[in-house]
Amino acid sequence: MCGIVGYVGDKEALPILMDKLRMLTYRGYDSAGIAVSKNGHFYVRKCKGKVRDLEQIVDEDVGSGTIGIGHTRWATHGPPSTRNAHPHLDCTGHIAVVQNGIVENFWELKQELIEKGHTFQSDTDTEVIAHLVEEYYDDNLTTAVALAMQRMKGSMAVLVMHRDEEDRLVAAKMDSPPLIIGLGRGENHVASDIPALLHYTNKIYVLEDGEIATITRDSVIISNYKEPTKPDRRLYERKVIVVDWSPEVAQKGGYPHYMLKEIHEQPQTVLDTLRGRLPERPDAPIELPDLNVTPEEVAAVERLTFVACGTAYHACLVAKYAFEQALRIPVTVDIGSEYRYRQPIIGPNEWLVAVSQSGETADTIASMREGKERGARLLAITNVVGSSVARLADGVLYTRAGPEVAVASTKAFVGQLVGIFLLLLYMAQYRKVSRKTAKSLQALRAGLWKLPEQIERILNDDGHVKAIAEAIAAHPSAFFIGRNLDEPLAREGALKLKEISYIHAEGYPAGELKHGTLALLDEGVPVVALATQGAVYDKMVSNVQEVLARSAWAIGVVPEGDKRLTELLGEANVLTIPRNHDWLHTVTAAVHVQLIAYYAAAALGRDIDQPRNLAKSVTVE
Ligand code: F6R
Repeated sequence: MCGIVGYVGDKEALPILMDKLRMLTYRGYDSAGIAVSKNGHFYVRKCKGKVRDLEQIVDEDVGSGTIGIGHTRWATHGPPSTRNAHPHLDCTGHIAVVQNGIVENFWELKQELIEKGHTFQSDTDTEVIAHLVEEYYDDNLTTAVALAMQRMKGSMAVLVMHRDEEDRLVAAKMDSPPLIIGLGRGENHVASDIPALLHYTNKIYVLEDGEIATITRDSVIISNYKEPTKPDRRLYERKVIVVDWSPEVAQKGGYPHYMLKEIHEQPQTVLDTLRGRLPERPDAPIELPDLNVTPEEVAAVERLTFVACGTAYHACLVAKYAFEQALRIPVTVDIGSEYRYRQPIIGPNEWLVAVSQSGETADTIASMREGKERGARLLAITNVVGSSVARLADGVLYTRAGPEVAVASTKAFVGQLVGIFLLLLYMAQYRKVSRKTAKSLQALRAGLWKLPEQIERILNDDGHVKAIAEAIAAHPSAFFIGRNLDEPLAREGALKLKEISYIHAEGYPAGELKHGTLALLDEGVPVVALATQGAVYDKMVSNVQEVLARSAWAIGVVPEGDKRLTELLGEANVLTIPRNHDWLHTVTAAVHVQLIAYYAAAALGRDIDQPRNLAKSVTVE
């Protein structure tokens, strides 16, 4: 949802800004722009299109300034165009602004500023920030930005530069959009996300809601924008985070797309997420100290609500099946954008578990705030250390997937599933479970360690899934069906296929097809039938029969050694996964559905890492 970058130091700003923008392209890619300041002059270049289109128009004369800001956009107010691309300037051309987020009261502010004589060049909400800062500017940029922030409502991360104060950038944050300051030697950086900073520094400061930062090459002074004259150095020193991601993990590493690279990183994601947490000795206790909960609190839990969006929501649906079956705790799963508007009822011993790759999804964050206000204990399963979700939560379980760059989430999903099973095993230690469940959980525990090798096997032999995906690519629509834990995976398979191949797809509970959707099945329509859950296998076979009876093309995903569906469909129409605990089949089957989406999209020549209309990290509600 828009990426913003900034640099101040002794090097040429332009190449550094462009490099950081390239790393943030996944946050939005309908227009891009930069402003570099030199000798009291701004060099502004912007255009409709991607960062690579911007590269074509940044010429030499922008070259040598050592301070600048940049932006890659995902349009909210005003269609993608050069006019609406950031940075935006004030009337005098002295102030340049980039923003990620939304100024909700921009229309009222714009009318007020027009009455005062300001003229606007764009349809964006961001331009009001430039004019507001102009209105308040009196030789001190930090004060002017602080006063402007006090007038605005909404959710935004803002970065501002003034031609007459060429030694500083001013950054401010209201509500959720992230803004990270990268601390260098003789230079400092700003970016919306950590991967953009990894080439330059691993020491970061994550700006908090309500903060304003004055950033020069040698200093970063943080204060609250309601009291900008009271810098809080203590706060700044206390919260510097050292990131352990290497710059290489945010590169394509020889793969044609980040998505394929990230699919191939999944064995490592599983290993990293388990290591140091799940002892291989079956009787050794599982410890998750970052969750900040006591055994007594675990024993007392009466209900869990999982909340998330998109792919992370599908991981939560898997959690519902597993937690309810194993721990007999009632579980509610909510979509982030719905939870806060349905006046949720929170019981006395209820935990709200937010699941988010980025940790910056506005709807998930809003749900956490709603839950907190209503008295829930907040836990987070997230991939980004220091993210808003992590900071808001009372306890965290980090998935260790490393930076995920492709817009379509893959390794983060697998990390979330593993995180969910870890949380379940951890909680089971302090709750009464039946002997049968205890045995099943031992198998789950052992099975988790088998996953990296099993995923590797699927990845090393992906010719068959590729051929099936390429055949699916010839169809205008496809269906994914499943029961029990395969049901959320069916939804995930459909989402992946839709978002990167643009083929219409639906993920459906297999038993529900006959209540309406079956009407859509016709000669040759692809139906991916996920049949990996033993308890409902017979029912799945019946549902596949229903599909075949309508002459549709059924493709089975089954555990190795499967007989009935394989006989029914023929080996050419069957994808296998290595046998494991049934619940862990969701992890290996996830790899197949990801590969189906990837190879179908590749066959259609789609822009796989940056599908149309989307952006990673959805920081608007
Ligand atoms: C789909 C996808 C999205 C995200 C969703 C939540 O492939 O990536 O559906 O899962 O936007 O994002 P996070 O997990 O960052 O909260």
